[in-house]
Amino acid sequence: PITRYYNLTLSRKELKPDGFTRMVWTSNNQYPGPIIRANKGDRMIINVQNDLDDGTTIHWHGLFQQGTTYYDGVAGQTQCIIPDNEVFVYNFTAGNQTGTYWWHSHFLAQYVDGLRGPLIIHDPNDPFLKDYDEEFVMTLSDWYHTPSVGLIAMMDTPGYDAGNPIPDSGLITGIGRYDCNNAPPGSKCEPNNPLAVYQVQQGKRYRLRIINTSAEVTFTFSIDEHPLNVIECEGENLKPVIFNKINIAVGQRYSVIITADKEIKNYWIRAEIVHECIKAYTTESKLNLNVTGILRYQGAPDADPTTLDWNEDTVKCRDIDHNLLKLYEPRPAPEPVTDSFTFHITFGQNERNVFKAFINNSSFVPDIYDPTVNNIMAGGNMEAKDLEPNQNAFLYDTENGVVEIIILNENNGTHPFHLHGHNFFILGHGEGNVPDPSQYNLVDPAVRDTVTILENSWTVIRFRIDNPGVWAFHCHIEWHVEMGMVGQLIERPSVLKTMPIPPGVLELCPKTPAQKNAAR
Ligand code: C2O
Ligand code: CU
Repeated sequence: PITRYYNLTLSRKELKPDGFTRMVWTSNNQYPGPIIRANKGDRMIINVQNDLDDGTTIHWHGLFQQGTTYYDGVAGQTQCIIPDNEVFVYNFTAGNQTGTYWWHSHFLAQYVDGLRGPLIIHDPNDPFLKDYDEEFVMTLSDWYHTPSVGLIAMMDTPGYDAGNPIPDSGLITGIGRYDCNNAPPGSKCEPNNPLAVYQVQQGKRYRLRIINTSAEVTFTFSIDEHPLNVIECEGENLKPVIFNKINIAVGQRYSVIITADKEIKNYWIRAEIVHECIKAYTTESKLNLNVTGILRYQGAPDADPTTLDWNEDTVKCRDIDHNLLKLYEPRPAPEPVTDSFTFHITFGQNERNVFKAFINNSSFVPDIYDPTVNNIMAGGNMEAKDLEPNQNAFLYDTENGVVEIIILNENNGTHPFHLHGHNFFILGHGEGNVPDPSQYNLVDPAVRDTVTILENSWTVIRFRIDNPGVWAFHCHIEWHVEMGMVGQLIERPSVLKTMPIPPGVLELCPKTPAQKNAAR
């Protein structure tokens, strides 16, 4: 293992990813941000220069941050925001983790404006290395023409209940094609934007690392005439399993192998919105979020594939059947459970008549100038912070214990829940709000870090208590984050108290109560 240095300079710049010009939150002047790559065990030292005219943080989605919870990048939980014009250095290793991850801002909805990019940890001993010749990293995302601050302000208006903001288009690896006929007068829009092209050679095999970095949309991914051999799910190698189409919810990742064994021509790569996930959208006639890219065989003309037809969208809003996601090396669910929590997920009006999301009747509000780690690490005392309303804190302190979380989704939305600091075993899910232990798979359950919680349903997950830290557990639909569908798990507070915080982290925070108030 070696130490790798990266620079991310964050600033705003006008770009037109789908032909429509808007201000984009860029990293090193580009969108999407650069791919951060490392080998298993490497140390990553990442210099974040904030030139955004706003605070920011960067989170490394899927990395456990073993022993480095203060570098997890969650504003209000693991750090104060990095002020404008300042530099913050993240410094961590991915330990034994390998596979497909991503990084993104974890402050407000900045990632939706562009602060996101892939993070790949290569394994020199990857069991699939001999099964493919080359690899591509592909991001999928919905795309909005209005900067997120405006969308959040709209949602924060008392009485507003028109649902989540509707994306204007979608992008594959940062590129899409918006129909400029729909652009408002006075906007800058270039029609027929070129699509993302993936160049392949007939006879070769390709690993595609596919990451859904959306704010909202679950995509069904497929490539015409090319079956997808799924070999990795969120850092866990799988027993290869073949699909023609796969659903990928926000925050989720898969590696698939395709074989370029068809005729030399162009083929559509399709990322099709799953309408069932967003019921409010189906009435929205202008919505066309079927996103395309091109798989181009070497020797094929520089042109779109000839026809583009879409079958009626009958895809169910759910993850790939967990029973088909078998670990390459199966592991049983951890037992016995020592700490059990129930999350009741609901929506409703708050005291300002603003529509909010609730976990056990509490809607999360981050305190970006007084984050949780500051209250618990380095001799801190969690109790005061824990008792504050809207902090949605869940504490557990059992050495070598096992956490079980029962998520009871008491509304008719679907929610891709993501856990920081761990991945988890998915024991089971079902309709209604009474978990049925007879349906649990304890023998060889699926393991991932982002799971779609279905409407009016229960889901049960488990993980081992082996990573002291402050770990967010939240719906990854960014609008639901803004509505407060966020919990924080405080793992091993007694150990955290004794852990030091490295220099640089506390310095981000205002020093005195007066400064805090001024900053707020
Ligand atoms: Cu992709 Cu809380 O993160
Ligand atoms: Cu949600």
